[in-house]
Amino acid sequence: MPPFTSYSQLYRGAVEMLTHAGISNPRHEALWILEYALGVTRLELHTNPDAPLDAEKCRRAVSLFHRRALREPIQYVLGTQEFFGLDFIVRPEVLIPRPETELLVEETITLLRSETRPVILDVGTGSGCLAISLAVHLPRAMIIASDRSVAALHIARLNAMRLGVSQRILWVAGDLLAHLLSGNLAGKVTAIIANLPYISHEEWDHLSPDVKDFEPRLALDGGPDGLDLYRRLLREAPGLLSSEGCMVMEVGIGQADLLCREPSVTHAFKILKVRPDLQGIPRVVCVQRHLA
Ligand SMILES: C[S@@+](CC[C@H](N)C(=O)[O-])C[C@H]1O[C@@H](n2cnc3c(N)ncnc32)[C@H](O)[C@@H]1O
Repeated sequence: MPPFTSYSQLYRGAVEMLTHAGISNPRHEALWILEYALGVTRLELHTNPDAPLDAEKCRRAVSLFHRRALREPIQYVLGTQEFFGLDFIVRPEVLIPRPETELLVEETITLLRSETRPVILDVGTGSGCLAISLAVHLPRAMIIASDRSVAALHIARLNAMRLGVSQRILWVAGDLLAHLLSGNLAGKVTAIIANLPYISHEEWDHLSPDVKDFEPRLALDGGPDGLDLYRRLLREAPGLLSSEGCMVMEVGIGQADLLCREPSVTHAFKILKVRPDLQGIPRVVCVQRHLA
């Protein structure tokens, strides 16, 4: 990009660059990046188009435009994503929270509304979006959040601190539930919430480059049919759940039926609800432990 001396020049250059890179919303994204990099509001940009540019801030804006032009998701470029009305830091070490995942928060709040002191376990917490939203909306809950990625846990902790709930969440690194089964949580967990990786190998081949090239594979790859991690989780979960404990799980297209027919579900759980997302895809599976 050529050197720029004013907001309006930089804006026009950015729109051209993003358009050329095939970004579908170049004008909006150029404004978002400018607001973020220059530390000014949209109103200031519109009312002062010829305002002189600070050289350092301009370099920063140009470097962000380059990242976006290489198709890095806008959320990583700007460093945040809104989820359930809260603002989360997102970096390439964590999955960008998706709108359909908010349904898990809604279902969990509904299930636990009458519990006096629920114990909630968020497995595969990533950015911490589920654990933190639940901590905000269920102030009496005790929450444990776990992930295999230590880098993701670090970001989740930062988010909890920023959003004022770090005292109410216990962060644990480990592979699914194995590290928790031997501790004093056995039989005490009221609900397990999970948005585990569920992309099948077939789907992987068709993922858009924005996702495949930038989001962590550990957060996406669910094995040949996408359900490897859920099968393991469902086998391990009864060891932690209380006698009427619940599980709330997010799945992909065509997986809700498969999951509900898994022997680990039919033997140990009753199905409470399968909730579709806004596109009509059965997205959230809620089950409750039953004693045989
Ligand atoms: C689909 S992302 C979900 C992140 C976040 N909960 C959300 O809804 O945006 C799945 C998360 O599970 C974690 N994960 C993958 N395999 C795991 C395992 N075996 N044990 C624990 N966490 C795992 C990944 O590191 C990733 O953070």
